[in-house]
Amino acid sequence: MSDRTARVPNDLRAFWMPFTANRQFKAAPRMFVAAEGVHYTTAEGRQVLDGTSGLWCCNAGHKRPKIVEAIQKQAEELDYAPAFQMGHPKAFELANRVIDIAPEGMEHVFYTNSGSESVETALKIAIAYHRARGDAGRTRLIGRERGYHGVNFGGISVGGIVANRKHFGSLLNGVDHLPHTHLPENAYSRGQPEHGAHLADELERIVGLHDPSTIAAVIVEPMAGSTGVLIPPKGYLQKLRDITKKHGILLIFDEVITGFGRVGAAFGSQRYGVTPDLITCAKGLTNGVIPMGAVLATAEIHDAFMTGPENMIELFHGYTYSGNPMACAAGLATLETYREEALFERAADLAPYWEDALHSLKGLPHVIDIRNDGLIGAVELEPIAGQPTRRAFQAFLDAYEAGCLIRTTGDIIALSPPLIFEKAHIDQLIGTLGDVLKKLG
Ligand SMILES: Cc1ncc(COP(=O)(O)O)c(C=O)c1O
Repeated sequence: MSDRTARVPNDLRAFWMPFTANRQFKAAPRMFVAAEGVHYTTAEGRQVLDGTSGLWCCNAGHKRPKIVEAIQKQAEELDYAPAFQMGHPKAFELANRVIDIAPEGMEHVFYTNSGSESVETALKIAIAYHRARGDAGRTRLIGRERGYHGVNFGGISVGGIVANRKHFGSLLNGVDHLPHTHLPENAYSRGQPEHGAHLADELERIVGLHDPSTIAAVIVEPMAGSTGVLIPPKGYLQKLRDITKKHGILLIFDEVITGFGRVGAAFGSQRYGVTPDLITCAKGLTNGVIPMGAVLATAEIHDAFMTGPENMIELFHGYTYSGNPMACAAGLATLETYREEALFERAADLAPYWEDALHSLKGLPHVIDIRNDGLIGAVELEPIAGQPTRRAFQAFLDAYEAGCLIRTTGDIIALSPPLIFEKAHIDQLIGTLGDVLKKLG
């Protein structure tokens, strides 16, 4: 159906959209043309309240003056610098600023360009770390059912979202999965659910099956976002920490969503009081404005590589855009914005109001669970029999028409507003969602 003579600016055919029902979208496009504060402007000139911080990334809201200015200045000053065997000051400065707010013990930053790349990087570092210490048999990776770790081969191998895995062949071998933590007895939990710490004990079974000497790392999201907001049960993450430590296995927290204030602290690790060995992040690092991710590592992991001749590259890994100057400028301005406006504290302060508003939807048609932590929340709907995802997607379309951007995954509505939200914005978002649910078929 290719017609090369018919390319006009508003021809939608060429762009193959990611994670999108392309044909449906192109039949009735939803286009944003501007954004400021907590609002998007649509191509028709409508204002839409951002209930999802873009894709869980614009934690400081949109068109933030410091970030805009920093990017403009950086483009004039130093647009690009080679990432290998060369440096530029802002890459070092940003790494220091990230470490300033990172959990105790995180001392080094390896730059990537996305959450997916952060995951691949962390998995590779974990395996290479054991090898560097003479423990090369430790190669197995353990993820979790319903986990989302991006879309690259390592990430979908340790990930546990079936639709993201089943189309793509045999994936990495040597991977096991812990059970997910979504238990019916936890329905309508506020904050961390009571039940489920015992699910971490499954790690002992997997370790027993393979022997600890074969296992490199366990990777989990401290709060599983993309699968529909599964908050860690009380005690669960600490158990994972204890078991991994006991067996010399690295623990990786994938904090691509929980990093940078989402759960009312800089990182989920701090919110939940458990420190892993490696942390992946992205999204909020630059407020989503310029693509950037990072892996944070302890001194122990970093230093294990700093052996051998000093003229030798220690880690054969990196990206053309690792520590890109534009991204570093955006990152520095983003962290400054978070600090000046105390946005992580603001998220923590707003969380109780958010929780009450969200749980006020209990009892509305089709609602079977509501859960929340920090400024994140989910409303789970009963699927239409034989048509999974349809009901929630209709809610997404209806909310968009009613002026609110929400996100759906399966039949779960996931909400993650910018940390600059006012109570009136929460009222509008939850009020609109309530109206949508009341009318939903
Ligand atoms: C926990 C987690 N890891 C990895 C990713 C992938 O990030 P990206 O889309 O930037 O590759 C995401 C994205 O939502 C995520 O939530």
